[in-house]
Amino acid sequence: MGVKAKVHLKIDTGMERIGVHYYSAHTLQEATLKCCRNVEVEGIYSHFASADSADLTYARLQLERFNEVLRFYEKHSLPAPMGHMANSGAVLQLPEASFDMVRPGILMYGVYPSPEVPHTVQVRPALAWKSRVVYFKVVRPGHPVSYGSTWQSDHLVRVVTVPVGYGDGYFRSMSNKAQVIIRGQKYPQVGRVCMDHGQSRMGHGLQRRRSDVDRRIGRRTRHGRRSGWVGWDDPLRNLDQHQHARAACVCKISQTPGVLSPPCLFRASGALR
Ligand SMILES: Cc1ncc(COP(=O)(O)O)c(C=O)c1O
Repeated sequence: MGVKAKVHLKIDTGMERIGVHYYSAHTLQEATLKCCRNVEVEGIYSHFASADSADLTYARLQLERFNEVLRFYEKHSLPAPMGHMANSGAVLQLPEASFDMVRPGILMYGVYPSPEVPHTVQVRPALAWKSRVVYFKVVRPGHPVSYGSTWQSDHLVRVVTVPVGYGDGYFRSMSNKAQVIIRGQKYPQVGRVCMDHGQSRMGHGLQRRRSDVDRRIGRRTRHGRRSGWVGWDDPLRNLDQHQHARAACVCKISQTPGVLSPPCLFRASGALR
């Protein structure tokens, strides 16, 4: 077809996920020199398993393995393809692993990859997850809310329902842990998060509006305060407070809105400031 495919070779230096093992890489590298007229090796890359740890011993070992793989080109007096290896942890902790490009993931969402990483770069959460309140009711004392009756009040409370649940990617494990933002103020999410719905307790003095917007991920905005939007406080930070802030969880939360159902809006805006 006269078209050249540009490819990046994936070298597994210790993640044991995708790619050719570093100790077999030369076979692949040699093969790409001999065959494949229609393939251009534009890049070569690897991935860190623990560049977000306080102990960087394993990350450094991976880096050394990758550097050894790159020496192939030097040995053969060939120009090296673009190299890239650094994920968020390495961007923050291993500048020597930057090569020609970096691939930060979670950091681009404005979230640190792990609590062990020094906070050397200022980031802010780049997610906004909003939905509208679809129901409002006053619940009597002793009347439990949602599945499993995991929460009830000892006094009359206002409870709003928002059509976002674990079916949309919102964690069920956030049940009774998250906080909502209601016109700029925080209120607790109450009862189990359902597949399509979640409920929140509002304060006594606050009248909700049917048009209120639920903010499940994101920061309070001036706009939110002015217009009386309703929303859940930044669950990324909530997770942190509730000791669920393992990078894996945070990653998952950050990426699950990909399955959002129509009533929700998902927006990603600039993360680094
Ligand atoms: C190939 C690759 N590059 C970059 C990333 C981003 O990693 P992180 O979110 O740790 O920055 C990932 C995430 O798994 C990945 O698989």
